[in-house]
Amino acid sequence: MKLVVIGGTGLIGRPLVALLQDWGHHVVAASPSTGVDAVTGVGLTDAMAGAWVVIDVSNAPSFADDAVLGFFRTGTANVIAAAREAGVAHVVALSVVGTDRLQASGYFRAKLEQERLVASSGLPFTLVRATQFFEFLATIADGYTRKDGVHLPQLAFQPIAAADVSAMLAELAIASPANGIVDVAGPERGSMAEFVASWLGARDDPRHIVVTAEKDYFGATIDDDALVPGGEARIMPTRFDAWLHAVTPAATAATAATAA
Ligand SMILES: NC(=O)c1ccc[n+]([C@@H]2O[C@H](COP(=O)([O-])OP(=O)(O)OC[C@H]3O[C@@H](n4cnc5c(N)ncnc54)[C@H](OP(=O)(O)O)[C@@H]3O)[C@@H](O)[C@H]2O)c1
Repeated sequence: MKLVVIGGTGLIGRPLVALLQDWGHHVVAASPSTGVDAVTGVGLTDAMAGAWVVIDVSNAPSFADDAVLGFFRTGTANVIAAAREAGVAHVVALSVVGTDRLQASGYFRAKLEQERLVASSGLPFTLVRATQFFEFLATIADGYTRKDGVHLPQLAFQPIAAADVSAMLAELAIASPANGIVDVAGPERGSMAEFVASWLGARDDPRHIVVTAEKDYFGATIDDDALVPGGEARIMPTRFDAWLHAVTPAATAATAATAA
């Protein structure tokens, strides 16, 4: 079966392409660096020819409100038009858990527009909403760093390994379209501050956490539980400490020293 992965060179796209190829599928990684641009439409028709499934895991190069809305609005419309022309039988797009509850943020208004375009395309579809990736903790720590520490809100958080998101997307892409939303999350729930503190600690990063009263998520005021699944969700297996040990040699060395 031929599948096209829009954004197939990114954090989620790369392992997704590799996994589907391992399963014996013909997979096209479509992104600007492979000659396919969803926003201008360049290369889309050729990439999509003969495809059965398209999975959109692209992300915008700029998160400025207008730029990100333009990216998801135009890119998604072009992907859907090309998919329709090619007779694609399943459109899958990756979004974020709580996107509808995060509308104070320009990024999430753009993601909701992407979801709306997919759901109203008339093509069979699956919208996969994932929680924040473990790999995104570095961006969170940097984004909330002030002179005297990392100022973090006390928000509920249930992050997930990027590899688990890719695995779930691969499984859902070759299954029957859900024609709805599937939430996917990691196995442990805590606070955003706790996860960032563990991440900093494992890397011997000297920045300390200051927990703040503001419920701020990158400039948008949100509810305590806006980032975690509110109902049924697919829970993926990779635990945060296992991932931490895999990506931070310092943490692994410390564990080995303690065990010895
Ligand atoms: N970060 C999180 O915690 C989180 C949580 C849930 C969901 N998500 C969603 O996950 C998705 C993927 O994120 P990611 O971290 O894997 O992104 P990423 O690593 O930044 O990769 C972005 C991908 O999009 C491609 N791309 C950029 N402009 C494009 C265009 N004009 N046409 C086609 N492809 C284009 C890039 O291609 P090049 O390599 O050629 O530039 C790259 O392959 C996003 O939609 C995001 O909303 C993120």
